[in-house]
Amino acid sequence: PETNTNRPKILLGQTLAFDGSPFDTGVDAARYERRGAVAVVDGKIAKSGNADDIRNHFPDAETVDYGGYLILAGFIDAHVHYPQTAMIASWGKRLIDWLNTYTFPEESKFGDRAYADDIAGRHLDITLTHGTTTVASFCTSHPESAEAFFAAAKARNMRVAGGKTCMDRNAPDTLCDTPQRAYDESAALIAKWHGRGRAVYAVTPRFSPTSTPEQLAAMGALWAENPTTLMQTHLSEQVDEIEWVKSLYPTARDYLDTYEAHGLLGPGAMFGHAIHLEDRERDRLHEAGAALIHCPTSNCFIGSGLFDMGGLMAAGHLVGLATDTGGGSSFSMLRTMAAAYDIAQLRGTALHPSQLIWLATVGSARAMRMAHQIGNLEQGLEADLTILNLASTPAIAQRHAMADDIWEALFPTIMMGDDRAIADVWVAGTRVEKL
Ligand code: GUN
Ligand code: ZN
Repeated sequence: PETNTNRPKILLGQTLAFDGSPFDTGVDAARYERRGAVAVVDGKIAKSGNADDIRNHFPDAETVDYGGYLILAGFIDAHVHYPQTAMIASWGKRLIDWLNTYTFPEESKFGDRAYADDIAGRHLDITLTHGTTTVASFCTSHPESAEAFFAAAKARNMRVAGGKTCMDRNAPDTLCDTPQRAYDESAALIAKWHGRGRAVYAVTPRFSPTSTPEQLAAMGALWAENPTTLMQTHLSEQVDEIEWVKSLYPTARDYLDTYEAHGLLGPGAMFGHAIHLEDRERDRLHEAGAALIHCPTSNCFIGSGLFDMGGLMAAGHLVGLATDTGGGSSFSMLRTMAAAYDIAQLRGTALHPSQLIWLATVGSARAMRMAHQIGNLEQGLEADLTILNLASTPAIAQRHAMADDIWEALFPTIMMGDDRAIADVWVAGTRVEKL
C-alpha cells in the first residue's frame, strides 16, 4: 500500500452519508451529494460534503476524481467465520448436520498456524475486493487461528473484531477446550490483541449447545473483567437448535436465558441470527442494549427462517448486517443487502435502499460499538471507504440508465451487484492497491 502522507487527499464523486437513521426519520436521514467529496487527512475523514466547499477548504490537497461513482463508508460485516472461507457453498444440510459434516472438519485444520495464516489472509483479501473494510469474525478454538486473524488484519491495517471460538462439548475432541482453557487462552489473546492497532477482541462462546454452563460462566466472568471487549455468539437460528438448547439447559427460561444467566447479555453483546425469538427474549435484548446480527444469505442457505427486520427496527432494536461466511452463501455485502430486502419482503416490509446501506455501514458499526470510529463519512471517523460503480454490468447499467434519483440509481447495484461494482476501496486513508 501507498504510504500515508500529511498532504490532504480529496476523493471526488457522488457521496452518501447519514445524519440519522432512515429507520427513524426516513430518507431525510441520508445526506447525498451529487457532486460530493471526502477529504482525508492522516487516515481520517477531515470533512465530507459538497465538492466545491471541500476543495476551498483544502486547496493544497491531492485529488482523486471518481467521476460519477458513489463514495460510501466501507461495508461492515458484523458476523463472519473466517475459518469457513474455503468451505463456503457446501451443499445440502441444515444447521446441526452442516456443522458436523462440513464445518467442524474444516475448523479442525486451524491448529496449523500456516494454514490459519493462509485462510485469514485469503478471507480479508476477498472481503476487501467486495468493499468490506471491517469484519467481526469467529476464529476456531485454536489460539493459533485468532493469532493468524489478528496478524492478517494488522498487515492490512483493517479495523476488525475477533475471538477464539470456545466450545467444550458436542463437537469433535480436537475442537473442544475446557472452561479453564477457554478462559486462559481468551485472556491471553485479549492481553495481546485487544486495542492493539485497530483490533478489538470479542469474547466468543460458539453457542450454548457447544458450551457447558461452566464454560459460559467462565466466558461471562472474562467479559465482566474486560468490559471494553465485545461478546459474540449465536442465538435462535433454527427451530431444532432451540429444542436442543432447552434439553441441555432444562432450567433456562428460554435460549437467551442460557447466556443471560451466565453474564453474557449486555451492551457490546452481538447475537447472530436471532430469528425465532420469544417475547421475553425480544424485550430483554432491547433493555440490555444488545445487538442482533441479521445474516440473510445464511438464513436462506441453511434454511433457518425469516428475521423480523420490520418489527425489530420499529421496536428500536440495535441491528447489524452480516454475511455469516461460510453459512452465508456470499462474501458480498451488496448480495447480503439484497437478501435482507428479499426476506423483509416475505415478511411484508419493503426496506428502502437508504435503510439497506445504513444497515451495512452505520447499523453494523453501532452493533460493534464502533460508530465513533467507522461506518459513516463524518469528520473524525477513520477513512475506510468503498467506491461503487453504479453501472458495473450491462444488466445493471441498462436499469441504472432509467433512474430518476439516487435511490433508483443505487438499488439495481444493491440487488444485482457483486465485486464488479467495487471500483476502489480505501482503508484508514490509504487506497487498497490490489483489489
Ligand atoms: N451456530 C453455531 N455455530 C455456527 C456456525 O458456524 N454457523 C452458523 N450459521 N450457525 C452456527
Ligand atoms: Zn455464525
